[in-house]
Amino acid sequence: MKLRALLLGGTLAACLATPAMGQTMVGEAHDFSGSGWSDGEICKPCHTPHNALLDEASDQVGWLWNHTLTTAVYTLYDGNSADAGPDDGDAAFDKLSRLCMSCHDGTVALDAFGGETGSIFITGDHLVGTDLANDHPVGRTAIYPEEGNGDFQAADADHKLGPSGQLKLREMNVDGTLDYVVGCMTCHTPHYKGFDHQLRMTNSSSALCLSCHIK
Ligand code: HEC
Ligand code: HEC
Ligand code: HEC
Ligand code: HEC
Repeated sequence: MKLRALLLGGTLAACLATPAMGQTMVGEAHDFSGSGWSDGEICKPCHTPHNALLDEASDQVGWLWNHTLTTAVYTLYDGNSADAGPDDGDAAFDKLSRLCMSCHDGTVALDAFGGETGSIFITGDHLVGTDLANDHPVGRTAIYPEEGNGDFQAADADHKLGPSGQLKLREMNVDGTLDYVVGCMTCHTPHYKGFDHQLRMTNSSSALCLSCHIK
């Protein structure tokens, strides 16, 4: 009995030590199941199995999206302003960043999902807001020079950067031209990949920053 317990314990420890096995979003920043506003579920504030959201143009948002979309107007890094989209050429940023900002700009309630209006808003350090002049450029202010130059690393054929292609540039229509831009999802993941701040790779020794910037 004792030996068996020891063996089981050893197996469990080995599993926990294998990073590829256990990287789930359970208990991480986007696990809202313990918050009163989430209906006790993890996925539901963002996804639904049925009746997913349509955008203003009555197109599927995609990804079985369930959270009300932001329609805010932003002050951009360059001081100009632009709206959340849809991505018809004059939006501030790519379609996926819009999904993030639908909670993080503070204009739509966290509990605005499944057709509810909601009343609880994001606060503190997690509130990015609508003034992006003091944030790393995204979208139309962060068009990436994919071929690389003296300041930027070259992206690969799949529009990815980083030691093993962890950072993906996002497609965006900027004033009628298809560009590849930095978006929230370039650096972050909505789920969890084992790194602090929901990042896609470590930023230890600024490895994430140096995956793009040559400094
Ligand atoms: C905070 C919002 C959020 C939560 C919570 C969330 N997701 Fe997602 N999910 C996204 C976004 C944004 C995308 C689209 C971007 C992408 O491809 O990762 C996505 C994409 C996906 C995809 C398709 C792309 C892929 O990564 O395979 C699946 C499947 C998925 N989510 C499953 C889940 C499940 C299951 C849960 C709950 C355990 C969950 N998500 C919770 C935001 C969320
Ligand atoms: C349903 C609303 C919602 C959506 C959609 C959402 N977030 Fe969040 N996010 C939150 C909340 C609430 C927190 C704070 C959780 C807490 O209190 O720890 C958070 C926390 C974070 C954090 C901080 C993590 C940490 O460990 O410090 C990051 C980074 C983040 N979100 C990025 C994103 C990105 C990128 C997207 C789009 C892919 C996104 N979020 C979409 C609600 C959301
Ligand atoms: C160029 C990469 C990059 C982009 C693009 C980016 N972030 Fe971040 N973000 C980071 C890093 C790195 C951190 C961790 C900062 C630190 O070490 O405190 C972070 C932290 C955060 C946090 C946690 C703040 C805190 O103080 O704990 C939130 C929330 C967040 N980002 C949301 C977003 C959203 C929403 C977008 C899109 C508008 C976005 N990020 C775009 C790199 C990025
Ligand atoms: C995915 C690629 C990518 C990553 C990762 C990235 N950046 Fe950037 N960064 C850009 C792009 C593109 C711009 C906009 C460049 C321009 O002005 O044309 C930019 C702009 C900047 C600027 C503003 C430069 C100016 O002229 O005003 C600074 C500072 C900066 N990044 C620092 C960082 C830091 C610090 C990190 C890590 C937390 C980081 N970047 C991660 C691509 C990236």
